[in-house]
Order: sequence, then structure tokens, then C-alpha cells
Amino acid sequence: MGTSETRRWLRRTGPARIEYGADYNPEQWPREVWPEDVRLMREAGVTVVSLGIFSWARLEPRPGEWDFGWLDEVMDLLHASGILVDLATATASPPPWLTARHPEILPVDRHGNTVWPGGRQHYRLTSPVFREHALRLVRAMATRYGEHPALTAWHVSNELGCHNLFDYSPDAEVAFRGWLRDRYGSLDALNHAWGTAFWSQHYSDWSEIIPPRQAAAQVNPTCELDFKRFSDGAALDHHRAEAAVLRELTPDIPVTTNFMVARSVTWLNYAAWADDVDFVANDHYVTPGPQARDELSFSANLTGNLAGGRPWFLMEHSTSAVNWQPVNLPKKPGELARDSLTHVAHGADGVCFFQWRQSRAGAEKYHSAMVPHAGRESALHRAVVDLGARLADLAPVAGSPRTPAEVAILFDWESMWAAEADSHPSSRLRYHREALDFYTALLDLGIRSDVVPAAADWSAYRLVIAPILHVVPCALADRCADFVANGGNFLTTYFSGTVDEHDHIHLGGYPGAFRDLLGIRVEEFTPLPDGDTVALDNGTTATLWTEPIDITDPATEILARYATGDHAGRPAVTRRPVGTGSAAYISTRLGPDGLTPILPALLNPVGIHSELPPELRGRVELAIRGPHHFLINRTDAEIALDAPAPLPPGGVTVLPVAPH
Ligand code: GAL
Repeated sequence: MGTSETRRWLRRTGPARIEYGADYNPEQWPREVWPEDVRLMREAGVTVVSLGIFSWARLEPRPGEWDFGWLDEVMDLLHASGILVDLATATASPPPWLTARHPEILPVDRHGNTVWPGGRQHYRLTSPVFREHALRLVRAMATRYGEHPALTAWHVSNELGCHNLFDYSPDAEVAFRGWLRDRYGSLDALNHAWGTAFWSQHYSDWSEIIPPRQAAAQVNPTCELDFKRFSDGAALDHHRAEAAVLRELTPDIPVTTNFMVARSVTWLNYAAWADDVDFVANDHYVTPGPQARDELSFSANLTGNLAGGRPWFLMEHSTSAVNWQPVNLPKKPGELARDSLTHVAHGADGVCFFQWRQSRAGAEKYHSAMVPHAGRESALHRAVVDLGARLADLAPVAGSPRTPAEVAILFDWESMWAAEADSHPSSRLRYHREALDFYTALLDLGIRSDVVPAAADWSAYRLVIAPILHVVPCALADRCADFVANGGNFLTTYFSGTVDEHDHIHLGGYPGAFRDLLGIRVEEFTPLPDGDTVALDNGTTATLWTEPIDITDPATEILARYATGDHAGRPAVTRRPVGTGSAAYISTRLGPDGLTPILPALLNPVGIHSELPPELRGRVELAIRGPHHFLINRTDAEIALDAPAPLPPGGVTVLPVAPH
């Protein structure tokens, strides 16, 4: 995604290396601990820390009164030991004096309730008062530390929009109206886009428009979709405001902010953010479950593609347990290294954790860290030190770009938001799960794929898979058709091509925008009730959704039929050859087990084969950066490799050449 001017790595000298470190929160500890921290950091191979993320109340204890002394000392201490600082702008959580004096910065939820201080990130992204105070702090930070030799990058705020994205306050209302005026230009255009002829919703003045607050019945879906777009934009706008101050005062220091590309975070469209950072940084936490490992890889892969294939920075992950799931399991031996190295395999040139020293007090005291409660003499800290050494050995990998795969899986945030809206044929559909299932199925077949934003240029891939590509403006439909006309192979699924950018149905039968391209037509969706399944004639089992497909182009081939259920005997999976390309459709949810047998019928004819030897396929994930081949053991068993040694359960090895 990014443009070349917006791509700068950390400011530092010396040979390329994989950076290693953590969020460092020295203000949680007495000063005597700081020299010990830095000593242990050196021992562990730490090269960089993120500092000051939640320090506002300590840096500005009273309005306009600054206390930088302690931070000066920490910066100097780190610099004396050669540790770089990714310095936060410290605006992530407003101090109590600010919310006490200006309660009008507090967000308001959908029901009209104030979101009170007491946690963190309790501010309106659209509050002019918050913005003014935040930018004053950013200016003070940039002025104070812009010349500091330890400063390697700016870290804008923290996980923008993590807790406060959807705000229904009066400030949000004003900003939402302004955003809508910019988007639509006239009320007529808005009335058309929102379909306000429905349910007596016609607007006759901009002042009548409100955010989608709790209403008596389902809120207008286009209003909901626009509010998601607007809120995402409000968070990006805040990033831009802070970044503008930093770029004005310290033009030589790269600026980033930590994204949250992960299954658990769906509400920020990072495809729109990637051009605004000098280097992409991501935070990733494992979502437990059978596809946990694949999800980590999927997220790392998507992050690498948001970064345009260039190296990116893993700003946070966990050394072991987190503290915010219902049950928080520690990582098993080896998982710490495997998780970190999977990110490196997908382009991370920095591996950092939340956080350096596990807190003694506060909401995150049971969240793991690089130095756990048990202290330095612990298996976890030893694993941390070992990882530091391993990353130092991997210095030759640093800077090498991801090697593109032949298959792309498109990821489209707007389709995720719109397809999962209420009042649909099924409320059970999950966009991310469907995309991840394709990723898992390809891993099971030993095939590399790239997870690519739908907005990116994916025309060079041989096969493009677009799961639930629900929102399809005409321009996107044209891109897909051109791709196929130029010899590309396109595969999409149920509930794709259904609506345009206003969430209006493409009329004439489903899958609307893709009907002609696919050579099929569907008159009615037939979702399945919970627990119901249907069989396909290739022996696989389908759930969630089915469709009665009519073939409209005699050239369209039927790859599988429904064997049971309402549509028994009718096509379930189709493929229409178009010149040297093709357009294929899967009308139901097959899950990884059902996709694995069907995908070869789409991969083999176009010459896409596994790059792994047969005995490794499915058991090993392959990721390639330049000449470096990462082999990641997906199983709990040791895998024999010719060289350099057997791959332990969950282990990762890096070879300078393709495995054979
Ligand atoms: C992140 C956040 C960190 C810490 C971490 C815990 O969302 O940026 O400050 O809270 O989660 O997993």
C-alpha cells in the first residue's frame, strides 16, 4: 500500500538487524529498579523500547505544568546502554485533571451513557478540547526530545480507537454531519444513499441527522455503515493531527502508530491507514482456538501486505498469558519463539512485547511480560533471553522483503462490516472466519498465499480468492472482471457481489455484481439453521448457507453439487472458464475440511502447486523473505528435515534455500 516517501525505518546507524524489545513503563517502578532494568535488557539482547505510552499524568501532573525530569533520566540511561527509544506522544490516556475540568471530552455510548474515566482511552476522538490538550503535549514532547540521541521513532498515541472508537456524543454528532456533507455534498444524495424512502426516514435538514444511537427498531443500515467509516476516519484523523505536529518539529524522525490487525479487532480499516505511517507497526494477541496458530500467521501476513511487502514492526505481543480473556492460559514451552518467528517470517523486522517488567499493581498485573513476577530466575525470562539471541542470529534476514505467493486472499473491511450487519438472511455469518478458513485450507495443502487488502493492486496474482466480498462498487466489479479477462483466476463465495457502496442490492439476482462473470444466477438465499448440515456430492459437508444456483452460461462447469437438502442435485461449486482465466464460486460454507478437497480443482488447472516436498505439506508452513525460507512446524510432533536438524514440535527453522 504505502508510497515510497512514507516508508522510513527506525532512525539508527549500524548494520541491519531484527529489533527486539517491549513497552517499557518505568514510572510503575521505583528509580532503583531502572538501572537493573537496563542491565537485564542488555543481557536479553533488547535493542529498543517504547516509552511513555501512558505517562501523560506523570509528564503533565497539573495543567500546563511539566515534569520531564524522570523521563530525561530514563532516556539518558537507555541511551548510555545503546537502547533505542520509540517514544510515545503520551496522549493515549487523559489524566484525571483533564477529565475533571473538561468532562465534555468523555465519550458517550450508544444508549447515551457517559463513558467515565477510571480505565484508559476515555476521550472523544472528535473533541476539540481533547485535541487541543493532546497536541500541546505532542508539541512539548517533540520539543523536549526531538534531538535526543536515543529517539529512533515516534509512537503516536496507542492503539487508536481500541476502546473509544464508537462515540455517540454531541461532538461526534457534529463531526459525523460534517463528514456526511463532505461525502455526499447534498441532502438529496444522502437521502438516496441511505434509502430514506424506507420507514419515513427522509431528511430535510442536516441538523436532523444523528449518529446511529439506540433506536426503537433496526437503525438504517447505510447510516450504520457510514458511521463505521466515519469513526475509523476519526481515529485516523487524530493520528494525522499528532503526526503533523511531529513532522513539523522533527522531520527526520519516522512516525508510526500501532495497528491492531487481529481476528479480535474488526473495526479499523487499516488499508486506509498504511500510507500515513513511515513504517507499519502491529500489535497481535493470540485468539485461542483450533486455528489460533493459523490466525497469527494470517494477521502477520496481512500486516506484511499492508506494509506493501516491506518490513514492518511487531510493536506488541505477549511472552505468555494475557489477562483479558475469560481464561488466560500461559504459552507452552516453545510457543513464545514460534509466535515471534512467525511474525518475522511474514516480514517483521522488530519483535516487541507488552511489556518489559510485569506490573505489580493495576489492571494488567496478571499479563505476562519479559521479566515476570518470578523475576530473572524463571523459565519465561530464560526463553526471552534465548529469543534475543536467536533474533540476533537472524540479522541477515532484516530488510528482506516478503516474497509474494501466487495466490491472494482478499481482505475487505467494508465487506466485513456490511455482511455482518443485522437484519440479514443469517446472523451467523462471520467474514473473518471465512477468510481464515481459506488460509488454513491452503496451508493444509502446503500452498503459500498472501492476505491482501481488496484496495491494493492484486492483479499480478494467478489466483485471487475473495471470500464474502459483499460490498462491490462498480469499479471493484470492473477490476475483478478485467483481472479475469486478462487471464487471472478469481474465486468468490456466498453473499458476495450483493450490494454496492451504499449497501443497495445489485438487482436482477445474486451474486449481483458477479453474476455475469461467474455465469450463474441465484434467486433466493437459503441459510441453514444452527446445527443443520448438507452433504455435497464430493463427500464434504456444508453448513451455514446454501444457494439454488442456475447456470446461465453453458461454459460454466459444475465442480460439486448439493447431495442433500433443499437444493439436492443442484450446483454448489462452479467454475466458468474465461479465455485463459476463470471465475469460480462456492455457494456454501465448507470450512477448512471442505475446502481442502475442492481447492485443487481450482489450483491444478492454473499450475499452482506446493513449493514444499510432499512429506512436509500441511505439516509445515512455508514463508519466504528473499533467499530466506522459514519452515514453521504446524504440528505437535517432531518433523524430520534433511538439514539442518529435525524440526521440533511448533519449531521454526530458517533455511537459506528452498527445502527439498
Ligand atoms: C494492548 C495495549 C497494551 C496492553 C496490551 C495487553 O491492547 O496496547 O497497552 O494493554 O494490550 O494485552
